[in-house]
Amino acid sequence: MGSKALQFFSFTLLLFFMFQAAFSHFEHKNPSPFEFLQHLQGFHKGDRVKDLHKLKKYLQNFGYLSYKNNTHVSDDDFDELLESAIRTYQLNYNLKATGRLDANTISKMMRPRCAVADIFNGTSRMRYGQKWHRRSGSKLVHTVSHYSFFPQEPRWPASKYNLTYAFLPGARVDAINPVSKAFQTWSENTHFRFSMTEDYVNADIKVSFESGDHGDGSPFDGPNGTLAHAFAPTDGRFHYDADESWSVTPDPSAYHLETLALHEIGHLLGLDHSSIEAAIMYPTFTLGESKGLHEDDIQGIKALYNV
Ligand SMILES: *[C@@H]1O[C@H](CO)[C@@H](O)[C@H](O)[C@H]1NC(C)=O
Ligand SMILES: *[C@@H]1O[C@H](CO)[C@@H](O)[C@H](O)[C@H]1NC(C)=O
Ligand SMILES: *[C@@H]1O[C@H](CO)[C@@H](O)[C@H](O)[C@H]1NC(C)=O
Ligand SMILES: *[C@@H]1O[C@H](CO)[C@@H](O)[C@H](O)[C@H]1NC(C)=O
Ligand SMILES: [Zn+2]
Ligand SMILES: [Zn+2]
Repeated sequence: MGSKALQFFSFTLLLFFMFQAAFSHFEHKNPSPFEFLQHLQGFHKGDRVKDLHKLKKYLQNFGYLSYKNNTHVSDDDFDELLESAIRTYQLNYNLKATGRLDANTISKMMRPRCAVADIFNGTSRMRYGQKWHRRSGSKLVHTVSHYSFFPQEPRWPASKYNLTYAFLPGARVDAINPVSKAFQTWSENTHFRFSMTEDYVNADIKVSFESGDHGDGSPFDGPNGTLAHAFAPTDGRFHYDADESWSVTPDPSAYHLETLALHEIGHLLGLDHSSIEAAIMYPTFTLGESKGLHEDDIQGIKALYNV
């Protein structure tokens, strides 16, 4: 081979590798922390599957599993407790309660979501199922509510209905409007009044953008996966995952700041998740999705504060 030919050959080879690197980079761009679930589809009790321990961790994070013996949290055995946790998950998400990792269950679990647990100690359902009535024209409609509260039902004291909120100094300024609009929406539907303050330290509600492990025991997980979380009354902390793409107006390539704010403010006031998909307190969100308050959310907050 002449040296020209050799040069051309190595150049082509170099190009090939560059392309391959670029392509595989493209392929692995924006991975979801929940991607591992894809490979667990079809398995059921009695199976041993690589990465099943990641599902156990997932279900533990969202309140569905608590092993007395910690060695079972880190093994890959599809045991009885896991099956029952999956069944509870399926009931909460209106799926067929099979205890198996069927396609519908996996695809629901893979959805980006709020980081707050759905239930606690795996013992309860997130639905309360109380009946309530709604007048629709002349008809009285009976509906089953699906809102839920945190254990022990923490709430703000009756005298504390004027709440202040503040952004961590340096937080992205484009979040101020959507978050303020979300507070406004909640105040129109509750006895609460919210006002923004510059005094971050003394604010009742503190809003910030956090990344990865940020010191509150609930680390975020990078792009996608968990998107935000907030604490039950009267803690007041509300964290957005800084690693997500966020948008002020609904945008198919980002998560909607105002929609997530409506949801997290629900937590700050004492609501936990609802199994009604149209409710703002439903746990999952998709890119570009924008939502408002649902009657289930309003009934929930009214029931909690007895107003
Ligand atoms: C936990 O489970 C493992 C494996 O089944 C067993 O060897 C171990 O003794 C158990 N530990 C406790 C404290 O029960
Ligand atoms: C969950 O269980 C643990 C240990 O049994 C207990 O300390 C904790 O209070 C329980 N939490 C709830 C919310 O029930
Ligand atoms: C709450 O704010 C309103 C006006 O914004 C005021 O009239 C009221 O006295 C306040 N209540 C308390 C308990 O601070
Ligand atoms: C999240 O995943 C979607 C694809 O499902 C992607 O378009 C988006 O950019 C990801 N988010 C981030 C912040 O990378
Ligand atoms: Zn939530
Ligand atoms: Zn946090």
